[in-house]
Amino acid sequence: MGDPIGAPVEPAPPVRDAVFELHGVRYAYANRQTALDGIDLRIDRGERVALLGANGSGKSTLLKLLDGIVAPTGGTMRALGRDIAAVADGQDSFRFHREVGLVFQDPDIQLFSATVLDDVAFGPLQLGLPQDEVRARCDEALRQMEIAHLASRAPFELSGGEKKRAAIASVLSLHPDVLLLDEPTASLDPRTKWVLVNLIRRLGEGGKTLVTATHELDIVPLIADRVVVLGENRRVLADGTPAEILGDHDLLIRANLIHPHLHEQGATDLSRLHDLRRHEV
Ligand SMILES: Nc1ncnc2c1ncn2[C@@H]1O[C@H](COP(=O)(O)OP(=O)(O)OP(=O)(O)O)[C@@H](O)[C@H]1O
Ligand SMILES: [Mg+2]
Repeated sequence: MGDPIGAPVEPAPPVRDAVFELHGVRYAYANRQTALDGIDLRIDRGERVALLGANGSGKSTLLKLLDGIVAPTGGTMRALGRDIAAVADGQDSFRFHREVGLVFQDPDIQLFSATVLDDVAFGPLQLGLPQDEVRARCDEALRQMEIAHLASRAPFELSGGEKKRAAIASVLSLHPDVLLLDEPTASLDPRTKWVLVNLIRRLGEGGKTLVTATHELDIVPLIADRVVVLGENRRVLADGTPAEILGDHDLLIRANLIHPHLHEQGATDLSRLHDLRRHEV
């Protein structure tokens, strides 16, 4: 017997395409320092995720795992349908990194060429793209990060914020579908930060999957629809919308994302900061 004619048809559930699936993932560095201790996490295609957590809670380590640079020392993990251990072993790594790009927290790790342009061109050249396509991608990435004027400079001669922008450009030129950003706005001036926030928003609107580790709570609602908080026990402490997570004051204190003395006293109010200082002396 079929449904009676005219009966409402249940809409099909949206197809969810997992980009990353982690079950009980652990990671300990060679010196046995445990960085992650049982991470359960699924990230679907097109999600924009902010990764929050105190210093040392494992954000950078998690991003390195998602990028297949290191393999978990416990648990299971798949990325883009592949076993991540195989990617970390070097098998299929080239194809994987056409799709997944990581901007490291420390730009000095990312920049190794004689000039900024060489660094930005490195990925597209590795992909074997034609010269004019490489040139077009470099021009676009340098323009997006507003560093065309730095193209022929040596990366080691740049300021901290300029290096950061060059490192981001060197990943943007790869056009990855999945972009992992480790504190991308750290050390950027306000205008450049705004440029980057807008760029991240545009990339999200274009369907890219974005995972951004940050300490800057004010940018979170602009760059993410989902927030994952790592706790000091090196596991996922909370997972929700920006409104749910940022509205939970106790959680933010527990996860060491805000400090009551800085936030309750209104640290952005300079006159009150001045008062605080006067009280201390
Ligand atoms: N190369 C390393 N060797 C040994 N231990 C490390 C190494 N890198 C990180 N760790 C340790 O792993 C843990 C997680 O570090 P991780 O860099 O992932 O934290 P994080 O959340 O990114 O911190 P931050 O906010 O300071 O960037 C910390 O206890 C850290 O000391
Ligand atoms: Mg980090």
